Amino acid sequence: MLDGKKSLFSGMQATGTLTLGNYLGALKNWVDLEDEYECFYCVVDLHSITVRQNPAELRKRARDLLTLYIAAGLNPEKNCIYYQSHVSAHSELAWILNCFTYMGELNRMTQFKDKSKKHADNINAGLFTYPVLMAADILLFQSDVVPVGSDQKQHLEITRDIAERFNSIYGDVFTIPEPYIGKVGARIMSLQEPSKKMSKSDENPNASIYLMDDPDTIIRKFKRAVTDSDNEIRYSEEKPGIRNLIDIYSSATGKTIPEIEKEFASSGYGDFKLAVGEAVVSLLKPIQDKFAELSKDKAYINSIIKNNADKANYYANKTLRKVQKKVGFPERIRS
Ligand code: TRP
Repeated sequence: MLDGKKSLFSGMQATGTLTLGNYLGALKNWVDLEDEYECFYCVVDLHSITVRQNPAELRKRARDLLTLYIAAGLNPEKNCIYYQSHVSAHSELAWILNCFTYMGELNRMTQFKDKSKKHADNINAGLFTYPVLMAADILLFQSDVVPVGSDQKQHLEITRDIAERFNSIYGDVFTIPEPYIGKVGARIMSLQEPSKKMSKSDENPNASIYLMDDPDTIIRKFKRAVTDSDNEIRYSEEKPGIRNLIDIYSSATGKTIPEIEKEFASSGYGDFKLAVGEAVVSLLKPIQDKFAELSKDKAYINSIIKNNADKANYYANKTLRKVQKKVGFPERIRS
């Protein structure tokens, strides 16, 4: 809770570009949450350097991500969209929470195990304590809810454990966050392996539609989408490829599944794929136009970055000061 309003926190890495899955599964639905929650959407650049990055690229991608969130409809006057590195309380609280987290707990994290395998030449301490920084992100804003994908559930659980441990020693300092369960967005699957979620880190570019893909690319990727060998447009467990395309078409157009089955009852896969591609092109066009327009307006984006960092710093420092006092750091002397 912040000033009597429930708060929501989500962090996103600026590695890779957002996909249609990120948009239809999450972002599109977040636009409606701004009245109910005090919302924070943080570009987690501190987390990004746990893996080696090209500095110029990281800076560009982080700014693009922030801009894209606004282009996709999040009102930056109401939603606090900011860079983690602009709020030093993240690092400071992470240090303190490190001292309340056990090696054994971190050793169990499946993401750490996966990433250690993937980046065997750079298993750094930051990669190991990544979940503690994430706990700091969430707890700084007294977050009530956190929208996370299934891959981040374990990190949310450790956040709750750390918060409960801290509270049991020092009293009610942190709100215990819950996973956000609200209107669930569509679960969009890979176009090449429809049993797998569409992911921005998929190595096959044909598997994902990126929000910035141009119309030709989008149509081409849908034409190549993996389906099955009959030619019937029917929503069924046994037809994961077609089911995914129906889900995408339904989210993009607002049509229901029975309506879609009826509309394409006498069409083949080729026509259907083209229709889905065209629907997605029209869905993304306004976002892409807005992104281009915003990207040109440097002064506007800079003002958003500045104002939202101020807002985030205000709330984050409030929690940090409380924590510092609880653990026994000396009071600051004001002149
Ligand atoms: N680890 C998350 C991911 O890779 C990103 C993240 C960082 C996050 N801090 C967070 C997500 C706090 C939710 C809340 O997706």
